Amino acid sequence: MPPPFKAVKLNDRVYWVGAIDWTMRDFHGYATRRGSTYNAYLILADKVTLIDTVKAPFVGEMMARVASVIEPEKIDYVISNHTEMDHSGGLPVVLDRVKPEKFFASKLGAKALPEHFTLPCDITPVGEGETLTLGNRSVAFVETRMLHWPDSMFTYLVEDKLLFSSDAFGMHVASVERFADEIPESVLEYEGGKYFANILLLYAPLILKLIEKVKTLGIELATIAPDHGPIWRKDAGKIVGCYAKWAEQKPTRKAVIAYDTMWNSTGAMARAVEQGLVDGEATAKVMHLRADHRSDVVTEVLDAGALIVGSPTLNNGMFPTVAELLCYLKGLKPKHLIGSAFGSYGWSGEAVGQIAEELEGMQVALAADPVKAKYVPTDVDLQSCRNLGLAIAKALPAK
Ligand code: FEO
Repeated sequence: MPPPFKAVKLNDRVYWVGAIDWTMRDFHGYATRRGSTYNAYLILADKVTLIDTVKAPFVGEMMARVASVIEPEKIDYVISNHTEMDHSGGLPVVLDRVKPEKFFASKLGAKALPEHFTLPCDITPVGEGETLTLGNRSVAFVETRMLHWPDSMFTYLVEDKLLFSSDAFGMHVASVERFADEIPESVLEYEGGKYFANILLLYAPLILKLIEKVKTLGIELATIAPDHGPIWRKDAGKIVGCYAKWAEQKPTRKAVIAYDTMWNSTGAMARAVEQGLVDGEATAKVMHLRADHRSDVVTEVLDAGALIVGSPTLNNGMFPTVAELLCYLKGLKPKHLIGSAFGSYGWSGEAVGQIAEELEGMQVALAADPVKAKYVPTDVDLQSCRNLGLAIAKALPAK
């Protein structure tokens, strides 16, 4: 028997019936220190409808929450907004038990779901702009390809102006509070930004187009119910505004210095670069890659104008933590950054050149000459690092 989990009411007809994952600390490579939730929703319309499910191990929790308001067998329709398994993992159990009259997914979802599971019923594909009547309520479907997967879609509960937004507008926060207005602003801003930076940054141009589309269609958003984290029931436009700002990636006077070090030579260089930035009236965030996770670095990069990367040379190359960061960041395709590279070496010294090449490859404009120092940086080397920081500060947008 699962514990006596309960559904949480959004309004007279809509309930949250998801699950709280208090212990998840890694979401495909992104450090999730606050855990997460997998949100599923129940609409008590004439046709009782379930939107999404949860990660497979949590399906018992989800079904208990459903059972706290209605017998699960009374669900008529199931809608899958997204195939990724944190939302679809519970589908085989749910479909088998509920035996819904109809099971809906986007056209690409209808192709992808059978490639993940053996499902006990057929899938009815739905397309962009299609509507479905639930009797006394109706839903409309909006394709949101690549937000987060090709199959992703939104489901909009028309009469309630309620958007089930799948991964979009979510964040990884486990809490007993279900609504954003119950959670401190500082947590929403950091975790919302971290989620955007690590999951959606790559799709920033699509997000800007989607926001325009929603505006053009005149879709009103009274409530946004994402698949992770809190529900936006008050001032839902606020998170949409944050997405527009984050997607724009307008450079600021903040520089992220991300580095690793062997005997603190590159560490000392990082601090000299920091001083140059401060002297040039820019802001610096210094991150040691064995103290700060790459997903936290990416979060800081989201509202920065510069990325400066340091590494000693190890075995003719850059430090593995530095290579890992650059590989991760390259995939997320950040925009409008300037930067440079620095690092110490003993005899061969390839790392700094390799970093500079990687930065240029990801369209980070080198706005200061990279700096290398042999073994232990001299005063002259440290002055060169300070000058690097000053040059970056000068090249950042004016205050
Ligand atoms: Fe929360 Fe793309 O899955």
